[in-house]
Amino acid sequence: MARWVRAGVQVCLVDKCSAPHEVIESKLRLVLAQIPIIQDGQFRAFQSDAMLAGCIERVDLERATSCHATNVYGWNALFRIYLFSMQKAERFGMLSNRNTVLQCKGEEHAFEGCALPSAAARGLWEQLFFDHDAKQRLIEYTASAMLFVKHDVDPMVINWNRMVLLYGPPGTGKTSFVKAAAQKLSVRMRADYPRSYLLEVNAHSLFSKWFSESGKLVARMFGHILDVADDPDCLVFVLIDEVESLTSIRRAGGNEPSDALRVVNAMLTQLDNLKAYPNVLVLCTSNLTGALDDAFLDRADLKQYIGPPTRRTRYMILRSCVLELARTQILACTPDAFDATPTDTSPDPTKQLWALSELCDGMSGRRLRKVPLLAHAASEHPHSMMVPWSAFFESLLRILKEDQSDKSTADL
Ligand SMILES: Nc1ncnc2c1ncn2[C@@H]1O[C@H](COP(=O)(O)OP(=O)(O)O)[C@@H](O)[C@H]1O
Ligand SMILES: [Mg+2]
Repeated sequence: MARWVRAGVQVCLVDKCSAPHEVIESKLRLVLAQIPIIQDGQFRAFQSDAMLAGCIERVDLERATSCHATNVYGWNALFRIYLFSMQKAERFGMLSNRNTVLQCKGEEHAFEGCALPSAAARGLWEQLFFDHDAKQRLIEYTASAMLFVKHDVDPMVINWNRMVLLYGPPGTGKTSFVKAAAQKLSVRMRADYPRSYLLEVNAHSLFSKWFSESGKLVARMFGHILDVADDPDCLVFVLIDEVESLTSIRRAGGNEPSDALRVVNAMLTQLDNLKAYPNVLVLCTSNLTGALDDAFLDRADLKQYIGPPTRRTRYMILRSCVLELARTQILACTPDAFDATPTDTSPDPTKQLWALSELCDGMSGRRLRKVPLLAHAASEHPHSMMVPWSAFFESLLRILKEDQSDKSTADL
């Protein structure tokens, strides 16, 4: 029996799109209803309609997590469509040696902000792969937190801080995950919050050369954050990246200058003040995998460990690299040549890529995204287009083996 399945459709419109949104939406629904199998990820079939192709830059599909069915057809899905345009590349920041909010000029910043959705994070969400349902957990946590806010759930009864902590080894995608999630949520929650900002706090720079000024800097920085958050129509994501630079100072305790401790405590107090703003979500990352500071742990509602990628995730990352090289015709293979669910008995080239992903055990996501370029450069066809996938894979194999042996000598 056919089951109704819910799916989210994020539609990024081109800058100069003048067509009414209702027309775009109803035309898109007609195309979506004909999809033979709904798959998560970028959806390109709308391009066959000239009007849609002229108005839409990109469409991303996502099935609801409750849907475990493998084959879901367009005609038995309930699509929730989110139309949006990218915001101008407006960035602003507070230079750590000045008082004022200024345009970025490449100097070290204590705090930097940008309007969402931003072109810089386009497609980032779809290119991140994790072994568990980390993405869905974060989205569902936020949806519940925002629902609680909307319906005035008493925080004295149910305690929540709207604070998330992602922790794990470096290069596993934590910072990118936060940026991608903020982008995604800004689109989803547009009906409640027409404007969204991502404000990045650079924890390192708070302890830079203007050290004695740091306490004041924290206060000023949060002053700016609250200025943005004062607008109730604005959803504010505060990213505190590599929060361990703050927590390590706390742990060092008496041995550190007391000024440092004061700065960290000022920061924690300011974070507590943010609780009064229902439109603010604080997203922290930490590269520490061991004991984390209780001060941050206690405040975080959701603590998510992001570990090194498993074989399946490594396959998905390498596959996305290979598909990009196929799309740009640097590699000669068709995009559907690589199965999303590989096994040892899959046909080539899936099987070979699956074998390669076994070999790069212990590699971070960041490193995995670097090896394809090295493999192309080291292949027999370094300056060529349409490199045969078999030649590319041979080169990739060499690079991965070198990488592994470098690692084992480094481990000695
Ligand atoms: N799980 C992953 N899936 C896909 N790409 C990844 C993953 N982890 C890391 N990467 C790649 O490495 C880059 C750097 O990751 P980053 O977010 O800076 O990691 P972290 O903050 O954990 O150090 C990302 O932009 C992405 O290209
Ligand atoms: Mg990071």
